[in-house]
Amino acid sequence: MSNSDVVIVILAAGKGTRLKSALAKVLHRAGGRSLVEHVVRACQPLKAREMVAVVGHQAEDVTAALTSLGVKTALQNPQRGTGHAMLVARRAIPSRAKYAIVLPGDAPLIRTDTLAALARSHRETGAAATILSAEIENPAGYGRIVRNDDGSVAAIVEDSALHDDQRAIREINSSIYCFSLDKLWPCLGSLKPQNVHKELYLTDAIAVLRQKGENVQAILAADPDEVLGCNTRGDLAAVDAVFRRRKRAAIMDAGVTIEMPETVLIDPEVTVGADSRIEPCVQLLGKTRIGSGCTIRTGSVVSDAVLEDNVLVKPHTMVIASHLSQGTQVGPFAHLRDGARLEENARVGNFVEVKKSVLGEGVKSMHLTYLGDARVGAGTNIGAGTITCNYDGVHKNPTTIGKRVFIGSDTALVAPVRVGDGAYVGAGSVITENVPPDALGLARGRQVNFPGWAASRRRQMAAATKSLKSRPGKKVKRSAPARRSRTRSRQAKPSRKH
Ligand code: UD1
Ligand code: CA
Repeated sequence: MSNSDVVIVILAAGKGTRLKSALAKVLHRAGGRSLVEHVVRACQPLKAREMVAVVGHQAEDVTAALTSLGVKTALQNPQRGTGHAMLVARRAIPSRAKYAIVLPGDAPLIRTDTLAALARSHRETGAAATILSAEIENPAGYGRIVRNDDGSVAAIVEDSALHDDQRAIREINSSIYCFSLDKLWPCLGSLKPQNVHKELYLTDAIAVLRQKGENVQAILAADPDEVLGCNTRGDLAAVDAVFRRRKRAAIMDAGVTIEMPETVLIDPEVTVGADSRIEPCVQLLGKTRIGSGCTIRTGSVVSDAVLEDNVLVKPHTMVIASHLSQGTQVGPFAHLRDGARLEENARVGNFVEVKKSVLGEGVKSMHLTYLGDARVGAGTNIGAGTITCNYDGVHKNPTTIGKRVFIGSDTALVAPVRVGDGAYVGAGSVITENVPPDALGLARGRQVNFPGWAASRRRQMAAATKSLKSRPGKKVKRSAPARRSRTRSRQAKPSRKH
């Protein structure tokens, strides 16, 4: 489609008072992106001559977001309504543009095809303005399309200005239009702020065009969801739900099973391979790529991660900015983050955190462990409760563990430190020096047993208590724990008779 005579104008200067937020409305997110980014992405394939956005409220932040998407901005300050916003946009619109597709920055569900159909229809009818309208169940809050007896468009009447007999009109103004600019500009000049907010409404330009005898068309959006605007938090939630539903449907169409899909949240750029299975209450976020035959079990969050084929993520596991190779298994309750990489068939179990570390093929670290800034060679077993002490208060230091190493339980590896291939580290060690290949590293106090010590201590304690009780005239005041121990000894007595 050639749209070199079309300019896109996105109105994004408003504050969004009804959201009661410190953040500009168009930067609020739904379906995993800011509202305005959705709008820009829907417009991009139209290949218009230029995209211009009118910014005002929090102009700096909104401009930064738009510039990165290739959109030019024009500053509207103060914001005196959608009609005024269009006048501001004029300064940034190239004179060669014949048509403008105008969109609000807060209606993010609009689709490219619908915009293309709007532009096509506008050209075909030779109209001065074509409004994208929609018939919706609950039109409250929207401007209504008021038609003449012959069905032609007479005006757009804002919700606050409706007569009682107009309230039932279900055809609403989406705020998405195509204008012939030579017809629009003279009308905008004659707009008056005829409302309580003292604003210039772009909607009033429609009545002005009609009074001049111009051709104004309204075409219905096939899917009324597409025009939903986000004025309130409730609207944001409703729009988010539509995006999420669309994304889940696309993922399921790609051959993925999603159990209780309404509980699963998937960001727009996520991909999942065929025959993977996603259990309830899972979140797949950011640029996550999941291969085929994977299972993501309930309660897990996977963000900006790569999962190759046949990966199993057990319940309640976080996988953040990490890479899980074929056949790896993680969780339940594991936390992989910031560049963790598991090579083929490696396994990480419950309450194990892995940060910026590479675990070689077949490595196992199954229980209660922290591996940070570590490299672990293939076939190594990391015992329960192993900690890499990677941080000395100033620097993060590396731990290098070779292939086929056995790290005993409850080992602290004080980095920087190396354990050579094939070495053993005894349980409970605090390893501060390198362990050579095939050696045993043992760094713990030697055990000493004192025979009979415990029995003798119990006898001493019993004798001391007895002499205290039998002291004449002395009332023994018992503390709470003492009372408890007396109960216990009474219960123990009968067993002694046997
Ligand atoms: C607008 C329409 C209404 C339509 C509805 C659809 C007007 C007067 N009303 O109402 O007919 O049914 O959208 O969602 O146009 N903006 C600016 N500068 C301003 C004011 C607004 O750029 O001075 C931008 C806002 O950031 C927003 C868009 O224009 O993205 C629409 O403004 P908003 O206040 O949301 O209008 P609605 O009351 O929703
Ligand atoms: Ca709105």
